[in-house]
Amino acid sequence: MTTRHRLIACAALVLFLLAVLSTVGATGAVAGGPVDMPGFAKVFTCTACHGASGNSPSDSMPSLSGAYPAYFKKQIQDYAAGKRSSPEMEPYAKMVLLLGVDEIAGYFAGQSRQPSPIKVSVAAVERGRTASAQCVICHGTDGRGDPAKLVPNLTGQPPGYLREQMLRFKADNRSPGDPALAALKALMKTIPDETFTDLAAYYSSLR
Ligand code: HEC
Ligand code: HEC
Repeated sequence: MTTRHRLIACAALVLFLLAVLSTVGATGAVAGGPVDMPGFAKVFTCTACHGASGNSPSDSMPSLSGAYPAYFKKQIQDYAAGKRSSPEMEPYAKMVLLLGVDEIAGYFAGQSRQPSPIKVSVAAVERGRTASAQCVICHGTDGRGDPAKLVPNLTGQPPGYLREQMLRFKADNRSPGDPALAALKALMKTIPDETFTDLAAYYSSLR
């Protein structure tokens, strides 16, 4: 399928869901919950990969629950522009921009982050805790980052996803040339790949 076809298919699904949800709502068949939150119909397609309420069940997909809106928006813009290259996300990012990124970001920001179900070793977490001294200046001692500086919350994210992103920063193929990421990437270049596994385990274990 071309990107255009995928976009059309997604838009059709979203319209269908809007219709279904309004019917269900009219008969009063659903109890209060995440599906009743504003924006739910627009995020339904996301849950296939990112999990219900944006809590990822897999090791490779990030959780979106509790993501800071400005960080979320920057990532969507970078995917849509092909700067943060991802064949999976690019068409969805373009769709999000059409549907309204602020409402969708607001939906995920309002969901509470459940920790990843992927298990990590205690030894790796302890090694990661030591190595994380280099990260606290931006990500904080609690790993929650800083919404105002577009530094994301790493806590409870799947370890495989965190490790993969560190490798991408190191190779400068996530948003290459972005001046805001120069310090982060320079740091990643000094860190051996094995240590990324430990850092990923540590941040994934934080609550
Ligand atoms: C086909 C699977 C799939 C679907 C559907 C999908 N995503 Fe993603 N998403 C991914 C993958 C894979 C990544 C990580 C890509 C990378 O390595 O940069 C990702 C990453 C993201 C990120 C970056 C998270 C971070 O912490 O930086 C955001 C934001 C995001 N997706 C939003 C959405 C939204 C909103 C939707 C629904 C409109 C959606 N995604 C639908 C697969 C998907
Ligand atoms: C100079 C500030 C800075 C330092 C130091 C830093 N980071 Fe980050 N980190 C950021 C910013 C900013 C982003 C968001 C990047 C973007 O906008 O694409 C980020 C993103 C990330 C991500 C991707 C999260 C996601 O949801 O996609 C991971 C993983 C990460 N950092 C891990 C670390 C680790 C581990 C360390 C220490 C070894 C570290 N960072 C040190 C600023 C920093």
